[in-house]
Amino acid sequence: MQTHVRGVEMTYEDTGGSGTPLLLIHGYPLDHTLWEPQWKALAPRARVIAPDLRGFGATPLPQGPATLEIYADDLLGLLDALGIARAVVGGLSMGGYIAFAFYRRYASRVQGLVLADTRPQADSEGGKKGRDASIALARQEGATAIADGMLPKMLTPRTLATRPEVTRAAHAMMARQSVEGIVAALVAMRNRPNSMGTLAAITVPTLVVVGDQDNLTTPEDAEAMRAGIRGARLAAIPDAAHLSNFEQPEAFNAALAEFLKSV
Ligand code: MLT
Repeated sequence: MQTHVRGVEMTYEDTGGSGTPLLLIHGYPLDHTLWEPQWKALAPRARVIAPDLRGFGATPLPQGPATLEIYADDLLGLLDALGIARAVVGGLSMGGYIAFAFYRRYASRVQGLVLADTRPQADSEGGKKGRDASIALARQEGATAIADGMLPKMLTPRTLATRPEVTRAAHAMMARQSVEGIVAALVAMRNRPNSMGTLAAITVPTLVVVGDQDNLTTPEDAEAMRAGIRGARLAAIPDAAHLSNFEQPEAFNAALAEFLKSV
C-alpha cells in the first residue's frame, strides 16, 4: 500500500481490522518486509502497520537532512493518514532508536513500546568513525558490500550454516537497499542523541526483546533498558542474533502476543 506522507509516497503494509494498532519500524539497512513473520502471525488480533522508512524499500528519499526525528515525524504522518490515534510502537535496532525519538516527541500517541535488539546509548567516538567508514564503503562499493559486512552480525553462526533460505532472505533485503538511503540512515544514526535519559520518562507498558546471541545490541543493553524503564519486561530469544524477529519468529511472536494482551 502507499500513501502520501509529508511529501513522500510512503509504502507500507497494513493488515487492517479492529485489533490493537501495532506500528513496527524496521532497522538498518532493511525494509518493511523484515516484519512479515509478525504481520502474518499477529493479524487480525493486532492491526500491524509496517512502513518502509524514507530511503528504504519502495519509499523514496527526498532531498534534505537525515535525522531520526525526520523518520519519527514521517511515522506520525502515517498514523495521521490512517486515522490512528494511538499505537503500540515497536522498533528493531535503528527502528528502536526511532521509537525513542517518536516517544520523546509524541508520547500521547504511544500505547506501548516494543524495543527489540536496540540500545539507548548514542554512538561512541569509535562508533561514529565506523559510520564514516560504512558511508565510504557504501559509496564506493554499493549496498552488496554493506550487506556482506552486516550479514554475520545479523544471524547466528548456526543459522548462517544451516538455514540457507533465512540467510539468503536477510542478505537480499540488505543488498537491495539504495546507497542514498543507507548513507542517510548512517548519518542519522551517527548523530543521534543519547536516549538514556528517555528511559525514566517512559510511562507506557514496554517490552524489551533481544536475541540471546546479539553482539550488536547486546543482552546487557537490553537488561539496562529493562532496568531503566518502569515495569518493563524483557524477553530473551534463544538461538537468535540481531534479527531476532526474523530468525526465531515463533518465540518473538509469542513474546509480542503475550505483551499485547497487557496494553
Ligand atoms: C540496525 O540493525 O538497525 C543497525 O545495525 C543499528 C546500528 O548500526 O546501530
